[in-house]
Amino acid sequence: SFQVKLASSGRVIAVPPQRTVLQALLDAGVEVPVSCEQGICGTCLTKVLEGEPDHRDLFLTPAEQARNDCFTPCCSRARSALLVLDL
Ligand code: FES
Repeated sequence: SFQVKLASSGRVIAVPPQRTVLQALLDAGVEVPVSCEQGICGTCLTKVLEGEPDHRDLFLTPAEQARNDCFTPCCSRARSALLVLDL
């Protein structure tokens, strides 16, 4: 498991292995726009300020994924223990 931190509030939210980042955010009352929930549409795209995402989407190009400055929380996860999100 890993954690995500909301840059605006400093709040840290744990993401268990069986939950998506999106589910963990919604459970915590954090509003994230969402549509396909399959990494295709890009609706949930969220800026990443720190940490390394584990990209599992089909929306970003490989070059965009490699920048690690955004990710799709509906399906992507983290390689680092913490992701700081621009939320
Ligand atoms: Fe479509 Fe996340 S909701 S990519």
